[in-house]
Order: sequence, then structure tokens, then C-alpha cells
Amino acid sequence: MSQATPAVLEATGVRVRFGGFTALDGVDLAVRAGSITGLVGPNGAGKSTLFDVLAGRRRPQAGAVRLMGRTVTQMPVHRRAQLGLTRTFQISRELGSLTVLENLLLAAPRQPGEAIWNVFARPGLVRRAEEAALSRADALLTRVSLRHLADQPADALSGGQKKLLELCRALMLQPRVVLLDEPAAGVNPVLLSEIADFVRTLRDEGLTFAIVEHNMDLIAALCDPIYVLAEGRVLRHGRFSEIAADDAVAQAYLGGAA
Ligand SMILES: Nc1ncnc2c1ncn2[C@@H]1O[C@H](COP(=O)(O)OP(=O)(O)OP(=O)(O)O)[C@@H](O)[C@H]1O
Ligand SMILES: [Mg+2]
Repeated sequence: MSQATPAVLEATGVRVRFGGFTALDGVDLAVRAGSITGLVGPNGAGKSTLFDVLAGRRRPQAGAVRLMGRTVTQMPVHRRAQLGLTRTFQISRELGSLTVLENLLLAAPRQPGEAIWNVFARPGLVRRAEEAALSRADALLTRVSLRHLADQPADALSGGQKKLLELCRALMLQPRVVLLDEPAAGVNPVLLSEIADFVRTLRDEGLTFAIVEHNMDLIAALCDPIYVLAEGRVLRHGRFSEIAADDAVAQAYLGGAA
């Protein structure tokens, strides 16, 4: 990925402290348009904390986040979503009892029908928005081969199918940048390659991704560039071959395992 490609999402000098503990210590990261940027590092390196800062769930004590060229450091999650940034979440226990289709419809952007006045005054508008959400959900389920399970409770899906559903929930918002936290966790190899293919296709269609993942096969297959985080700092960033050959990176992983 060229240095000249603009960053759609950028962290500069991000610092996060939890009491006396520094979880992120001046992190710079650029997610360039059309990239699948990987974020790796030992347990406790600060990856999820950095995602929280990027997504708007946590305010850093120092540093800035820019999205589509705008400073969004203090902007709440839902306003970043309106600018095109979203992330996947695990299907919670409450959502698990809803059907696959209902999960997608709930993830759709705010519906005009949620304002009770519109239901009476503008029934056509409400119906059209609901039809649009339904056809989008239907198209997504077809793409990921889950359409035949639309009426099943989400809990009935396998681990990998749930990951696909989580990704589809994020896509209901028609985002431009998607953050994926551990998309491979608990996924069998067949579905994993399906998820990887789907992410690659979406990238080819113009989406940008940032992925936190421990599965190095998936990182190697999908991500460029890759950032290695260790003890709250960016240790290295570059292509997989550069990262894999780096002594400091190997040391950080050994240290983390010790
Ligand atoms: N809410 C919190 N309060 C206190 N400490 C926290 C909090 N969240 C995270 N930490 C600490 O900050 C550090 C970074 O945590 P984080 O979850 O970002 O790591 P990670 O790289 O995502 O790790 P993993 O690979 O295990 O998911 C860890 O030492 C963690 O214990
Ligand atoms: Mg984490």
C-alpha cells in the first residue's frame, strides 16, 4: 500500500492510561483507503484499547483520531458511524434469541418508522425504508450463503456463521471503514477462508478494513500493512514478510508468552 494513498482513519500520538498503567503510549497508525490493515501483538499489547479509541468508545488522554480527514477524537460512536466507520460486535445473548434476519434489520440505520409521527403522516416513507432494509439484508444473506437460515435464531449458527452475521450487521450501515476484532476466533478453516474471501471482495468493491487478529495465517493472507503493537507502542509496521523476519517482533511475542 503506497504512502501516498490517503489515510481514511488515522491515530496520532494516542495515549490511554488506566489509573497508573499506560495501555497506549503515543500510538501513530494510518489506515489507508482500500487497505486491509492488520493489527497484531501479544496479549495485553493494547490492540482492543486502540480499536475502542478509533471507534469512539474510549477517549484518549492525549493524541488525536482523524476519520475521512476530520478530527473525531471527541466524537461519539454513532456520529462516527454516520461518517462511515463501524465495527463488528459479538452477537450478544439477547440478540442470539432473535432470528438471523431480525439481527440484520435491527442493525439497519435509524428507520423513519421509529418516529411514531411518521407512521401516520408519512406511511410511504416508512414502508420504503423498511423495504430497502429488507432487500439489503436479503442481498447480504445471499452473498454469505446464510439466506436459508434467515428465520433461524442467531444462536443456532456455528461460530464462523456468527462471524459472517456480525460482518453483515456492520454492512447494513453501508460503511466505508470497518474494524474487525478477532474475526477468526472460534471459526473452522472452511468458514475462515470464506470470511477471508468475503473481506477481500468487499475491499475490491471499495471498503477499507482494519483487523485485530491472533491468527497469523489470516493476517498473512489478508493484511497489508501490518502494525505490531507491544506494551502500548507500535513496534514495527510493514508487509508481513518484513514483520515476520524482525527480531524485535519475535522478542515481543516471546516476552509476552513468558
Ligand atoms: N478498562 C480497563 N481497565 C484497566 N485496565 C485495562 C482496561 N482495559 C484494558 N486494560 C489493560 O490494558 C492493557 C491492554 O489491553 P487490551 O485489551 O487493549 O489488549 P489487547 O492487545 O487487545 O490484548 P488481547 O490480545 O488479549 O485481546 C492490558 O494490560 C489490559 O489489562
Ligand atoms: Mg483484545
